[in-house]
Amino acid sequence: MTDLVAIARSLMAPGKGILAADESVHTATARLADYGISTSADMRRQFRDLFIGAEGIEQYLSGIILFSETLLQKGSDKKLFPKSLVARGIFPGIKVDLGTEPFPESSHELITQGLLDLPERLMQYKKQGAVFTKWRAVIRIDGDDLPTNVALHENAKRLASYAKEVQSAGLVPILEPEILLEGKHSRIRARAVIEEMFQTLFSVLAEHSVDRASIIVKTSMALSGSASGKKDTPEEVAEDTVAALVASVPPQVAGIVFLSGGQTPDQATANLAAITRRANEAGAPWPLTFSFARALQDEALEVWKGKEENVPAARSAFLARLAKVSAALSSM
Ligand code: G3H
Repeated sequence: MTDLVAIARSLMAPGKGILAADESVHTATARLADYGISTSADMRRQFRDLFIGAEGIEQYLSGIILFSETLLQKGSDKKLFPKSLVARGIFPGIKVDLGTEPFPESSHELITQGLLDLPERLMQYKKQGAVFTKWRAVIRIDGDDLPTNVALHENAKRLASYAKEVQSAGLVPILEPEILLEGKHSRIRARAVIEEMFQTLFSVLAEHSVDRASIIVKTSMALSGSASGKKDTPEEVAEDTVAALVASVPPQVAGIVFLSGGQTPDQATANLAAITRRANEAGAPWPLTFSFARALQDEALEVWKGKEENVPAARSAFLARLAKVSAALSSM
């Protein structure tokens, strides 16, 4: 039997983190368009290869979350991406949710889809080499009106059903309720929503008998909304993020990882360093690390621009950011 706790703990290995390279076709198309790159299946393959094929990433990455299309694609070394990762000691993961749709009971909120055929897809992804998975729920803050309790609860129920299915299939679940940065809300409001979301989630996980020791939680940092006009200091972010997590995430989980959520690479790195320091001071019980997409990829994409001749320089930019983010994990 697969030792899920051991895999989850290895994903949280000291100094290492997880690259989220799991943009859906729609998101990858939009992301590449931001850099003037027009997309095709092969261009997305080259986009993934830019990061997966970079020499030395195993020093900083314990895992990479892939998208279903990528599991079946090959890098320029002619190896399937999951095989090439395993050969370097990096766990291949897979995003298994199928994106969001408007929540019928509260039309300004979103609910995540993908439970219906999940067991069949998990069997397939496992055969294709995935050892861990991710499911993302999206939580929007709007004053005191959103999120509604009913949307938090429905997202928590779906995260719990997902986690249960994934553990039964012998894979590690990452549960990601993302609190969106977009909005006018204060950092204190974001802190309260993070805390409320995780309290709801862990009570629903208990009802579904999900084993906490083999789950990883993926969270937003507590940040003032992007339209609030407020710029938080890393110390403020760290104080509120750690307080929210200490109040709501039980010590038994294998670890907590952070998404970057639209912060610049420098902001996400500085905030991660401050969170690490604060968590150490507070004696927080779980290991922490990064699971960024944009904050790890943006600088490399800026250099790459979809051109073969820019690959070495773009990979150097990626490795340089990985080194900085990894160094943030040893901030004391
Ligand atoms: O679902 C979102 C990704 O896992 C993290 O992406 O770091 O760009 O927010 P991000």
